[in-house]
Amino acid sequence: MRPINFNSIDKVLSYAKYENYKELILPEVCFAGRSNVGKSSLINSLLNRKGIAKVSKTPGQTKTIIFYRIDNFFSLVDVPGYGFAGLSKKKIAEMSELLHSYFTNSTNLKNIYVLIDSRHGIKKIDLDFLSFLDQNKLVYKYVFTKSDKLKAIDKKKILNTLHKENCLSAIPIIFTSSKTKEGIKELKGNILKVISENEKNPQ
Ligand code: GTP
Ligand code: MG
Repeated sequence: MRPINFNSIDKVLSYAKYENYKELILPEVCFAGRSNVGKSSLINSLLNRKGIAKVSKTPGQTKTIIFYRIDNFFSLVDVPGYGFAGLSKKKIAEMSELLHSYFTNSTNLKNIYVLIDSRHGIKKIDLDFLSFLDQNKLVYKYVFTKSDKLKAIDKKKILNTLHKENCLSAIPIIFTSSKTKEGIKELKGNILKVISENEKNPQ
């Protein structure tokens, strides 16, 4: 595989509705999770850009599906969060429909990184999303965000809980921080592994 440069962004495409658009031909990995978990911040860290993906303290910032096409090789995909509050019922219904149609129709989606806020752990709404992914035979891995807010002992506790609850199928579990950049290199390596494995074994 040739070296891939995450700083080389060829194109940014944003959609309020999802179809298998003809310009979406490259394999993609997506970052999903509760609203405000840090999806857009993590994309900025991966792309080494401060504000290419819009970040906000207020949940419900990302309202469309945004494809960041990298080095003519793959796309990173930012999506609206689930469990959003403070938006109109109509907007929430539109965003839920958008997420549903993306996850059930994309033929290029190779992995979903399910982001979990390290401080809050896996919530009921995350479990509902994970069972939706299982039902649709979608492949995912856990990424814990905001690890700068955690002590080493807390990480151990999280891993022990996941182990006990038999949630370790989604390995590796990566702890990340968009503040300290912990885990960013590991996550980049995992993304390239996922994409290149799919190159060798296309579905
Ligand atoms: P929606 O688009 O609304 O679903 O949110 P999102 O998941 O894209 O979250 P976003 O990246 O907008 O970040 C939400 C808030 O969390 C912002 O105030 C960020 O500054 C903060 N945040 C994101 N990542 C980190 C992190 O690694 N550490 C800390 N301490 N704060 C973070
Ligand atoms: Mg966002």
